[in-house]
Formats: sequence, C-alpha cells, structure tokens
Amino acid sequence: MFSFQPSNPADKPLRYRELCEAADAITAGEPDGVANMANVAALIWHFVPGLNWGGFYRSVGGELVLGPFVGLPACIRIPFGKGVCGAAAETGDSQLVPDVHAFPGHIACDARSRSELVVPVMRGGEAIAVIDCDSPEPDFFDEEDRKGLEALASILSQRI
Ligand code: SME
Repeated sequence: MFSFQPSNPADKPLRYRELCEAADAITAGEPDGVANMANVAALIWHFVPGLNWGGFYRSVGGELVLGPFVGLPACIRIPFGKGVCGAAAETGDSQLVPDVHAFPGHIACDARSRSELVVPVMRGGEAIAVIDCDSPEPDFFDEEDRKGLEALASILSQRI
C-alpha cells in the first residue's frame, strides 16, 4: 500500500520521486485515462504543496480542453499556441514562468496565480495533454519542479 503523502516535504527531489512512484502504482493496469488523470491531479496536490491549481488539459480536436484538476473552476478551452498551456502543447517544451504577468498572452483563470509550470505529456511526438501547476507565490517553481513533472509526464504518456 502506498502512502499518498510525502515522507519529507522539505526534500524536493524525494517528493517528486515519491510522487512518480505513487502515480506509477495508482495508474498501472488502469486503462481509463480520465480516472488516471483524476488520481494524479490529487497526487500532485498532495506532493506539491503551495499550489492554487494543479491538473490537466487534454489535446482534443486541435485545442486544449480542461481535464481533471484540483483548484477553482477554470477556463475550459485553450487554443494551441495561446497562453502558457498552449505554448507548452504547441512547442512540446515545458514552460517555467516565474511571473505570469510578464508572460505574453497568459490566460488568467485564477487571479491568485503568480507563477506557473506547464509540462507537456508527449506520445508519438505530439502533446496529448499538459500538466499545469499554478502557485500564488511569484517564482515558486524551479528546475527540480520541471524535472520532477517531466518524469511524471513520461510515466503518464501511455496511461491517459
Ligand atoms: N494560465 C494558463 C491557463 C490555465 S489556468 O492557469 C488553470 C495559461 O495561460 O495557459
């Protein structure tokens, strides 16, 4: 049985290793992508303390559509190339944004968000979804967060 809480919240690399292990365990053998995204959104919430929003947008018919998340209700549809999520989906590159007000075209779903990290989930060279994390604290995310969420995205590539 997995514990769904970080064993040492102050140790960020360990937190992401535990998040990935829990996500791997909870999605293994479950073919329903929505169920898997819902559980992983809850895991992100517990393993990445300090967020005001964490969850998924899925690539559907050439745009991003809101998926399972934890946080306030959010914008439902985001065109590829628009906002932080659309930039990650279009380029296939993670977007680490220390100050959302300085990001051209940032889409403000929750006015409290000050910094944001968006990581694409890639399959066959295409972004099938993005993981979006928002924090009310400016400059909240760093390279450890990016690496950690990219490891998570790679686990989810065949599971959502
Ligand atoms: N801020 C995002 C939109 C999604 S919300 O943060 C949940 C963006 O600019 O793409």
